[in-house]
Amino acid sequence: MDLATETATLGSRRPAEMDAPDQGATARPAAPLVARAVLAGIGGYLPRTVVSNDELARTVDTSDAWVRERTGILQRHIAEPHETCAYMATRAAAAALADAGAVAGDVDAIILATATPDQAFPATALRVQAALGCGGFGFDLSAACSGFIYALSVADGMIRARQARGVLVIGSEVYSRIMNWRDRGTCVLFGDGAGAVFLTAGAGRGGGGDRGILSTHLHADGRLGDILYVDGAVGRADRPGHLVMQGKEVFRHAVVRLAAAVDEALAANGMSHSSVDWLVPHQANMRIVDAIAKRLHLPVERVVVTIDRHANTSAASIPLAMMEAHQDGRLRPGQVLLLSALGGGLTWGSALIRL
Ligand code: UT7
Repeated sequence: MDLATETATLGSRRPAEMDAPDQGATARPAAPLVARAVLAGIGGYLPRTVVSNDELARTVDTSDAWVRERTGILQRHIAEPHETCAYMATRAAAAALADAGAVAGDVDAIILATATPDQAFPATALRVQAALGCGGFGFDLSAACSGFIYALSVADGMIRARQARGVLVIGSEVYSRIMNWRDRGTCVLFGDGAGAVFLTAGAGRGGGGDRGILSTHLHADGRLGDILYVDGAVGRADRPGHLVMQGKEVFRHAVVRLAAAVDEALAANGMSHSSVDWLVPHQANMRIVDAIAKRLHLPVERVVVTIDRHANTSAASIPLAMMEAHQDGRLRPGQVLLLSALGGGLTWGSALIRL
């Protein structure tokens, strides 16, 4: 059974044992089934406009060779004015629901990770809720490039706590709007896009063999807030709000902390690197991805790479990479995915998922 077939069944049905907490009912199974967030559908959206390194080199002092060699990036998608965070998120979320065979009524919550929302409020998640016609609740989450992993972790917790049964987790970013297009050290690195997954409550048995999110680990160190940040927001009317980065410093932290994060995820689940079918890392720099793969003794064929075509889409990069691997048939039921990301904050973390 392929992932699409299996998830179609899951997405349109809610297991009986996941119904609202018992009100004195007697017909419930006594076995200690635990609620677990199962990956039911994956979707994404990329703006149609593609900008190559050569095109960028016409307006900023850079070259295709430098960007390729130092980052692995060949091109990026750049949003048109109408392609806002909410616009792209809505399309990615609709695709994830369709992939799961689910409908708007199956969604209890929407958690949207972004640093580039449409408005200060309402939360962009609620623009998505209205566009899709969902009920329940929703909110935005700010953890920069680690946003998708943070949002997955929150969704997993809510599902385990039986606060929600169907959760859309979205990463949607328009970093092109917070770029300093005169800063060659940053403007060549980022792209726009949105990715989404639909999680449904599954009944696991608490053992490592079950499907779903096996673990998430989140970290942050606010003392490192000045090596990667945006110098403005609606609370700072004097500032335009452009991304600023000390690239070398961030790179150094990424290699060290992500290596520790993947080790932590495997140790927490009693797994070794050989249990990992796919590493799906945040796509910031191919040299960072290579370092993490090496740490896991994973050949590059088992790493999902999109940085060459998408560049760094921040919170959207992991779900977009998952979407690609799902659509081209690489992802199969039972496989183990290891997700890892690091971003402004600094924030970093991992998620281990069995499909
Ligand atoms: O997603 C959030 C997490 N972000 C990351 O993980 C990003 C981490 N950092 C990086 O990926 C890398 O540090 C960068 C790709 C940002 C930079 O690569 P680097 O190898 O660390 O280069 P550098 O900043 O040390 O710059 C080396 C040289 C400098 O010239 P000099 O001073 O040696 O003459 C830069 O001015 O490369 C120059 N340079 C460029 N040259 C052409 C910097 N950017 C460019 C450019 N085109 N776009």
